[in-house]
Amino acid sequence: MRRILVTGAAGQIGSELTPRLRELYGGENVVATFHIKKLGEDLLSSGPCEHLDVTDAKRLREIVEEYDIDSIFHLAAILSAKGEQKPQLAWHVNMSGLYNVLEVARELELRVFYPSSIAVFSPETPRDMTPQLTVMRPRTIYGVTKLAGELLCDYYHNRFGVDVRGVRYPGVISYKTPPGGGTTDYAVEMFYAAVKGEPYTCFVREDTVLPMIYMPDCIKAAIQLMEADAERLTRHADYNLASMSFSAGELAEEIRKHIPDFKVVYKPDYRQRIADTWPRSIDDSAARRDWGWKPSYGLAEMTRDMIENLRRRLEEGLL
Ligand SMILES: NC(=O)c1ccc[n+]([C@@H]2O[C@H](COP(=O)([O-])OP(=O)(O)OC[C@H]3O[C@@H](n4cnc5c(N)ncnc54)[C@H](O)[C@@H]3O)[C@@H](O)[C@H]2O)c1
Repeated sequence: MRRILVTGAAGQIGSELTPRLRELYGGENVVATFHIKKLGEDLLSSGPCEHLDVTDAKRLREIVEEYDIDSIFHLAAILSAKGEQKPQLAWHVNMSGLYNVLEVARELELRVFYPSSIAVFSPETPRDMTPQLTVMRPRTIYGVTKLAGELLCDYYHNRFGVDVRGVRYPGVISYKTPPGGGTTDYAVEMFYAAVKGEPYTCFVREDTVLPMIYMPDCIKAAIQLMEADAERLTRHADYNLASMSFSAGELAEEIRKHIPDFKVVYKPDYRQRIADTWPRSIDDSAARRDWGWKPSYGLAEMTRDMIENLRRRLEEGLL
């Protein structure tokens, strides 16, 4: 039995992870919390929902106590591209939010899931098959907060015994909720444009290769890690996680197998500089060894599934 609280439940990942958690553990046992962005109808009607600003420690604790929560999936954050526009906000939300979550977890013995990111890496990091332990000097405020967050999680584990687990997600691709301002958003935007029959102006160069993951695998990783036997885990909040890597041009080519006249022009903006500091591919052998991580989707399967689902959503008038 689990009693789960999800922060940032209305976001790209939360809007799909929360329904899956409700399926697994029962709707009434999973509290979806949201801030400015509203929850979808499916989440509002399938279990408890609460407004929560994660920088408000008092309100967080009230909700945890009211629902007798034992695990927090802490998704709320300001992402990389938006963070560069509002660095002070990114620091405040990402650091105070995590601190508040870890403090309530320490006091009430809760488990925590922390989604870190490939943004913790930097230009000095080896960019191919980036190792688990390597040089990390992130240049974005988002990367700085995600790396500081990993270290804070490790500290709470080592010093106070908090059971906190997390992965370094690559760019997440999905069709239900548009991404919230990250550097890998172009991959998702390309699909939306292609399915609507529109050309796409891509904000990174054609040869930009980044690691990506499809939403079903993203969700699988979070749940599998949180259900893993603690004794087998050799790391805490910083498991490298890989799924697929491709360039923006390769993605456009794959989409053209389904939508042949899809056109892309490449006009790199400030996000190119961010992409250039991140790895091209990731060594996730620790995750594979410790908790059996294995992704199900590659580029071809993901592209087929994205296009099928976005076409259906377009027909239903949801795009
Ligand atoms: N999507 C990706 O590609 C990706 C990759 C790596 C890591 N992650 C991490 O996964 C988590 C979820 O990402 P996402 O893609 O769903 O992001 P998102 O931007 O779509 O969702 C984040 C949510 O946090 C909420 N939020 C912002 N400020 C808040 C506050 N003060 N209090 C409470 N909620 C607040 C936003 O309203 C939003 O709904 C984040 O921690 C992110 O760093 C995402």
